[in-house]
Amino acid sequence: MTTRYRVEYALKSHRRDQLIEWIKGLLAVPFVLHSQPTAVYQEHSAQLSAVAEGTHQRYADIFLDVENLILDHINHTRSQNPGKSKLKLLVPTVGTFFTPLYLEDAFKYQDRRRCISRRRFVAPSFNDVRLILNTAQLLGIIRSFPSSVELITFDGDLTLYDDGENLTEDNPVIPRITRLLSQGRKVGIVTAAGYTEASKYYARLKGLLDAIHSSTLLTESQKNGLIVMGGESNFLFRYDDSRSQSSSSSSLSPDSAGDNDNNSKLAYVPRKEWLLDEMKIWREDDIKELLDIAESVLRACVSNLNLAVAVLRKDRAVGIYPLAGSKLHREQLEETVLVVQNTIERSSVGSRLPFCAFNGGNDVFVDIGDKSWGVRACQQYFGGIDPARTLHIGDQFLSAGANDFKARRASTTAWISSPAETVQLLDELHELEGH
Ligand code: IMP
Ligand code: MG
Repeated sequence: MTTRYRVEYALKSHRRDQLIEWIKGLLAVPFVLHSQPTAVYQEHSAQLSAVAEGTHQRYADIFLDVENLILDHINHTRSQNPGKSKLKLLVPTVGTFFTPLYLEDAFKYQDRRRCISRRRFVAPSFNDVRLILNTAQLLGIIRSFPSSVELITFDGDLTLYDDGENLTEDNPVIPRITRLLSQGRKVGIVTAAGYTEASKYYARLKGLLDAIHSSTLLTESQKNGLIVMGGESNFLFRYDDSRSQSSSSSSLSPDSAGDNDNNSKLAYVPRKEWLLDEMKIWREDDIKELLDIAESVLRACVSNLNLAVAVLRKDRAVGIYPLAGSKLHREQLEETVLVVQNTIERSSVGSRLPFCAFNGGNDVFVDIGDKSWGVRACQQYFGGIDPARTLHIGDQFLSAGANDFKARRASTTAWISSPAETVQLLDELHELEGH
């Protein structure tokens, strides 16, 4: 049993979130003891709701206990002793919490919507717990600060639009993002998609950028609250209304390579204007060396796993993507990510330079830097916004092969599973703020 368990764990730990799995395990006990599907048809509805009420209370108690363990963990972190908290012993992978998580209230909120405690056959699931954690995080920010969240950063693919698609004018997230801007909040799109040309981002984000441009509601300074961070933490663009008309002046410095599109509504921001001090010491020869290693490992995987893909080497990234419309298997993607990540981690340049190897759904990329640097650079660009007042929304939060995971070091986060959930989350924020 032990061996089987360990093998399973070693093979699958990168596909599990330990905190969520642990909470699920705690909830399984009252589910089994109180909600088991005993002859449902014989019970009266009064009995049914009494059982549901009892189960609701037991689940709520568990969430309150976890909420208190997180508070205790926050206190240990503040006193420079995070390793000693009880939560850290129970869930060794647990990281930093920037705010308390109001799990009991979040559970009650989500239970009203999802009727979790009324279920007799399906135990509280990964998705139930994930959504409760998201609500608890929103409450954590709202209750910690009178003006709530100041900066919201969004991942692109699967968070704002479907994988590989564009943000078109009919996307329901557009009015939600303009609402955030109209409230004076800052918005960053922190995507792995790495292009040096503003026109490429315009092509992907056209619906949103056009809507901001034509908005009569937003002031100029509110419109300037939008930035795009590409290649995880490599290329910064700011919204620029003046790039909506054709103009002939376009002086190209090496640092603004390709930024020659005057209709893109985005302006390239030179690195010297936004790099964090720690990023200024990243050396070009290290960047080349790391990408060389990544490229040779990717090529070895292509041959070893017989993948029908092309290799793409860029300025700050290298990746593989399938040829003409074919689809890679999950196993091929995960194996490639784990091999490349392990090899770079074991190299000496891998200890000098941050990088992010991830499974993009149907491609694998290795980027220089990661979203923790991307989110931090956005915070600094807007004058130093606190991590606790920043929320990063993304779909990739598994520990290996996922790029939003790294943002947890820089800000609070919400883990969504589709663009529709992003819309729901933004509406939830609006509602919980009492609008
Ligand atoms: P995200 O979900 O917005 O972070 O976008 C990730 C996707 O962007 C990847 O799966 C790739 O398809 C695409 N992409 C394009 N260029 C790059 C790059 O330079 N690095 C990583 N991903 C890239
Ligand atoms: Mg994504």
